Amino acid sequence: MSNTPFPQSFLWGGAIAANQAEGAYLEGGKGLSIVDLLPTGAKRRSIMQGSVPSLTPLEGEFYPSHEAIGFYHRYREDIALFAEMGFKCLRVSIAWARIFPTGEEETPNEQGLRFYDDLFDELLKHGIEPIVTLAHFDVPVNLIEKYGSWRHRKLVGLFERYAKTVLERYKSKVKYWMTFNEINMLLHLPFLGAGLTFEEGDNVEQIKYQAAHHQLVASALAVKACHEIAPGAMIGCMLAAGSFYPFTCNPEDVYQGMEKDRESYFFIDVQSRGEYPGYAKRFFRDHNLAIAMEDGDADLLRGHTVDYIGFSYYSSRTTSTDPEVNKKMTSGNVFGSVANPYLAKSEWGWTVDPLGMRITANQLHDRYQKPLFVVENGFGAHDEVRPDGSIDDGYRIDYLKRHVAAMGEAIEDGVNILGYTCWGPIDIVSASSGEMRKRYGYIYVDRDNEGRGTGDRLKKKSFDWYKNVIATNGAEL
Ligand code: BG6
Repeated sequence: MSNTPFPQSFLWGGAIAANQAEGAYLEGGKGLSIVDLLPTGAKRRSIMQGSVPSLTPLEGEFYPSHEAIGFYHRYREDIALFAEMGFKCLRVSIAWARIFPTGEEETPNEQGLRFYDDLFDELLKHGIEPIVTLAHFDVPVNLIEKYGSWRHRKLVGLFERYAKTVLERYKSKVKYWMTFNEINMLLHLPFLGAGLTFEEGDNVEQIKYQAAHHQLVASALAVKACHEIAPGAMIGCMLAAGSFYPFTCNPEDVYQGMEKDRESYFFIDVQSRGEYPGYAKRFFRDHNLAIAMEDGDADLLRGHTVDYIGFSYYSSRTTSTDPEVNKKMTSGNVFGSVANPYLAKSEWGWTVDPLGMRITANQLHDRYQKPLFVVENGFGAHDEVRPDGSIDDGYRIDYLKRHVAAMGEAIEDGVNILGYTCWGPIDIVSASSGEMRKRYGYIYVDRDNEGRGTGDRLKKKSFDWYKNVIATNGAEL
């Protein structure tokens, strides 16, 4: 195909996560997991931040992940639709609690393992490459209750066992793996990202960075296991990306922008370069944080760095040191961004910045010099179904078109990008709000915020648009 910056091998597809799509939250022997405790409504945000009222679902609350979109039962039908669009790959996550329901069993749950065997077989039957995240906002609740989740070193070994189990089982089917989804989310929504809960008087920073260390060691162990068990496969990390812009050229703003970016880069610096960066050590010193590390941790981190950098990009972020400017924060953005007067916003307050995709990809390339994989990008919007069943989501096509074009520019700039999996190619439960109303899909799911609806799947206008993008390898947007 002429006039396309995308290489022939480019992996076009979509991305979903077990907890937002599968439902069947207690079927097949599955144990409870983080997202099973997140209701819709006003309390969701504080629970995601770590104020967790109960480690069992409460009467009277609605938990959208319990049924989600029923992908657990309907995946064949959904995959057939992805195949119709020409998907080359589908990013999914394995629910840890389907494989080890309490996280601590001696032997894995065969029913859970079989489900993913069937899922991967179905994908491969259609020529769709599975891209698998080991942990997408996912910790068995028993481990939260017993150990306080990732704050405890115990989780490292339990995660390693889980990772080895699935790597061994699926090594002939899966060539692309990722360790922790949006690992930097741990700092912003610590319960969602890492199952951390807090009580009055806790040293929250200390707990978060200790948990981060444990995840980083666990990630290195998963990389090690992948390289040993499935030598032909690639395993990456996953960053919630979107570079910070200084609000002005005041050096104070510029410096703060750099610091904000480093809050996120910190994780990837360790996962990709193999050691704690100097600025992180200084941060720990300045904040009196004492991170417990075991002998051998430094060698593990150094010896087992990731093969590629997966990242999500929805929007850029903006930061200011001016208290007046800081009065205008964007809503719905967990990264604490001030409003950027040059950019439009979605209904949920997420800014739209296609050029930011090119900037972010170039910066990640310059920093790590490793292949990148855009594993999430998309436009959350409310869609209207017309009486004839059609859905005109031109606004989504517009967003995606501009972002894919920006990604193409980054490739022309010399950035090596393995593929693009847009978020939620079929509507799924929103992670941040728990709503169904915030939709990303090319495929509409008839289900509302309260869980009502037939569950039927309908093609939106964007369905044919994306199909053509893939068919022309990005030449026609
Ligand atoms: C990322 C997550 O943060 O963004 C996904 O990895 C999430 O799980 C996606 O769904 C979009 O966010 P939201 O809140 O609109 O669903």
